[in-house]
Amino acid sequence: MSDSPAPVLRAEGLAKTHHGEGAPAHAVRGVDLRVARGEFVAITGPSGAGKSTLLHLLGGLQRPDAGSIWLDGERTDGYSEARWAVERRKRIGIVFQFFNLVSDLSVADNVELPALLAGVSPKKARAGREELLAELGLEGKERSMPGELSGGEQQRVALARALVNHPPLLLADEPAGSLDSKGTREVMRLLSRFHQRGQTILLVTHDARLASAADRVISFFDGRIADDAALDAGPAPRRRGASGVLELRD
Ligand SMILES: Nc1ncnc2c1ncn2[C@@H]1O[C@H](COP(=O)(O)OP(=O)(O)OP(=O)(O)O)[C@@H](O)[C@H]1O
Ligand SMILES: [Mg+2]
Repeated sequence: MSDSPAPVLRAEGLAKTHHGEGAPAHAVRGVDLRVARGEFVAITGPSGAGKSTLLHLLGGLQRPDAGSIWLDGERTDGYSEARWAVERRKRIGIVFQFFNLVSDLSVADNVELPALLAGVSPKKARAGREELLAELGLEGKERSMPGELSGGEQQRVALARALVNHPPLLLADEPAGSLDSKGTREVMRLLSRFHQRGQTILLVTHDARLASAADRVISFFDGRIADDAALDAGPAPRRRGASGVLELRD
């Protein structure tokens, strides 16, 4: 399954408790995880199970109370904020459910920004942006502002932005969370296409159809991994039964 000798991502004993206004929330309570290169892993689970917290820990957006994380075999949990910012530009692409884009930058500038921040030349950044936006069906939207786009278009721009530096790992938290079923299918098709080209993806989703595009589905419950099941190999669409993941229809 994921016993690759050098997983892209590895976590051992991860734990995180949130201390907010209410009672402490034990969001992540001892998680071990390995994601092999090229794997597409979906994490599903009920609201409040700790899925987003886990993704934030893995992407360095929040700090674990306990446990270790390795990216490409290198320990990341000791990274400073500045180091994490660099890693997120180069080695980890992140797509969130909302607020992915800088609202007062054009679509083109939103996608080019992470490349420019990573030290890519303006010419190369533009070329990368043009290629991705074309691939994602967004030609002609370069000069639009995010507020002028539909939800699905904004999510595709967010995907372009997360992928522009060709990160070895894509972390996506409900990337179709605000979309209707057509938008969800669109995002799923794009994720599958990048996966088929070798992109490693860790996807958090409530949506069984999105999860069914993955190689492997992790059920997260009450801060822990309750189930971790490999799906059948082979091209989508495919049938599922045992893990409760729906058959994928187009
Ligand atoms: N910043 C925070 N401060 C306090 N509690 C938090 C914070 N973030 C999350 N929590 C709590 O931690 C638990 C896990 O939250 P998390 O957002 O990780 O769940 P989730 O599985 O992503 O849920 P959803 O499917 O609704 O997005 C919840 O009980 C939540 O209320
Ligand atoms: Mg969440």
